[in-house]
Amino acid sequence: MTLKPVYFGALLEQRLSRRGFLVASGAAAATGALPALGAGMDPTRSAKSKSYAALAPSREDALRLSPGLRSQVIVGFGDPLFDGDPGLTAGDLRTLDWLDRDAATRQERRFGTSNDALAFFPMRGRRNAGLLCANHEYVDELVFAGLSGSESDQARQVAAMIAARPQIVAWMQAAHGVSVLEVRRGMRGWRVVRGAAATRRITANTPMEISGPARGAPLLRTNADPTGTRVLGTFANCAGGKTPWGTYLTAEENIQDYFGGARTWAGGADADEATKRAHRRWPLRERSAYGWDTVDPRFDVRREPREALRHGWIVEIDPQDPTMAPRKRTALGRFCHEGANTILTKDGRVAAYMGDDAKFEYVYKFVSRDRFDPKDRAANRDLLDHGTLHVARFDADGRGEWLPLVYDERGPLNSGAGFTSQAEVVIRCREAADLLGATPMDRPEDVEPSPVTGRVYMALTKNDSRAPERRDFMGRNIDLGPNAANPRPKNDFGHIVELIEDGDDASSLRFAWNVFLLAGDPRDGAARFLTRAEDVAAGQLAREDVYYAGYADRGAVSPIACPDNLGFDPSGRLWVVTDADTRLIGNNGCFVVPTSGPDRGRLTQVLSAPVGAEVCGCEFTPDGKTLFLSIQHPGEGGTVDAPVSHWPDGGGLPARSAVIAVSREDGAPL
Ligand code: FEO
Ligand code: CA
Ligand code: CA
Ligand code: CA
Repeated sequence: MTLKPVYFGALLEQRLSRRGFLVASGAAAATGALPALGAGMDPTRSAKSKSYAALAPSREDALRLSPGLRSQVIVGFGDPLFDGDPGLTAGDLRTLDWLDRDAATRQERRFGTSNDALAFFPMRGRRNAGLLCANHEYVDELVFAGLSGSESDQARQVAAMIAARPQIVAWMQAAHGVSVLEVRRGMRGWRVVRGAAATRRITANTPMEISGPARGAPLLRTNADPTGTRVLGTFANCAGGKTPWGTYLTAEENIQDYFGGARTWAGGADADEATKRAHRRWPLRERSAYGWDTVDPRFDVRREPREALRHGWIVEIDPQDPTMAPRKRTALGRFCHEGANTILTKDGRVAAYMGDDAKFEYVYKFVSRDRFDPKDRAANRDLLDHGTLHVARFDADGRGEWLPLVYDERGPLNSGAGFTSQAEVVIRCREAADLLGATPMDRPEDVEPSPVTGRVYMALTKNDSRAPERRDFMGRNIDLGPNAANPRPKNDFGHIVELIEDGDDASSLRFAWNVFLLAGDPRDGAARFLTRAEDVAAGQLAREDVYYAGYADRGAVSPIACPDNLGFDPSGRLWVVTDADTRLIGNNGCFVVPTSGPDRGRLTQVLSAPVGAEVCGCEFTPDGKTLFLSIQHPGEGGTVDAPVSHWPDGGGLPARSAVIAVSREDGAPL
């Protein structure tokens, strides 16, 4: 039985028909106007787009798809990117023989580990070819044979392995970073063109430029780089984004795990106050997660206390130009960057929306000073070096404000507050945002504007530390209780917030917002299935309560936990992929939900991932016929010797991360 979807869907229809204002009911009155539509784009079209039979949650070790969809593996960890290399196979992983002294050199020509973000750049004039950029976020224990026991047991075993074979660190560094590949679509689907002109691996050791306001800053100077302008490598690359001029933005996220010796350094006589203060809101560890500091002095905080400040940025890479050094764009701030998704402002500047993926951290927006020039690609090269970074405050009345993070002696970020330059503001970005009164969120992952409506969606993945109390948390004293935009007292399932910029303009300083999705399991008898926005109120929600943008048919929506990456198909429907503890509902997956029309909020699961995997990427080709997804860390929770997943190679082999292409069996757009 399909109930007639009411409330938000109907409300939106009214809004679309009269191009009026969104009037949310109750106290949460939102007054953002409908964003301007792109030429030829129809926000109601999503209602007519292909629909899919929902998959039930699964715990099978298989990649399952809704009927009518198919997938293929394009490339996975260890695959060769150049001809004449057999690659590293799942079978090779059953011993450590592959970890010889040349392992790093070979890995620099192979697809890296733990692929996360994906970005597709069509090649000019060619419908079936493009460049694909992929992030390699981290190295998990699923590549090293012989590990067993708990996570901490395994960490100790890896440390012992590094002591016996120090080359493992260089191999891990080569397995991180970014791959740039050429891919082509033919009769049998997509394939990687090995050794194409653009093929490139960027690793934790690739030389890069530091650009923007922090270039050359004293806090970024090290023994190896006394100028503070050049840095080696990128790592912990989580999600990403693209610019309107066709470059790739890769986001440096959990860099704190890579450095060791922080407590010893901070207690020593040499530790200077300025560097200590710069680390306060993003503390480093005494014992690193990966042991790089035991071999490579730049990861040892006692020797290079400022090296970590040169990571945690958005890095711009030109996939078309393998000779260009990647640039760390410091104007976009230093924090646990999930990704950076761009859209043009009404006057042709570029706005980038970004999340800081840590508990009680913030949502940011950068707006460039200068305009994008669609006719001159080179003229856009340094657009991301000049502009204004903002942080979001969400008010309880459904309104909000972008607060500029600008050093100014007449403003709040001045020397009295401990800031003497814009370099210090972007390096100590979290501290500056604290001072402005930004709203602490439930781990902001992707923050992405719809290319069809301009409305912005943000995945707040989860926060099990949200609780009604005030205390010290990550270097500052804050209220950990629920707020209007993060209304759950303990947020295990996560939620999605929708933001509508005033005047439909990404450069606006004011916006309206509402909760789009309160994730969870509507089949759970303890869950209230909410259909009215005013019921989604801070302090009045149980952990299990769910809300699907007001969609009223509880039986027609899929359960979902922990939204992470987002994407939009060309018709404007929102696609959501998840990174949840699979004990909550089942294996992670991919979901699609219209954001307008009568089916607004009707969320459908279309893919279920293998055991242990999270799903990331979520990138469409411009024709909407292919959806690229990352299947990251299948088999998490097992080991090489006792795998809990065998995806994608099967046959009892250990699992490995890989990129898939999803399409319709009939070849039509998804
Ligand atoms: Fe690497 Fe925010 O997930
Ligand atoms: Ca991840
Ligand atoms: Ca993520
Ligand atoms: Ca995540």
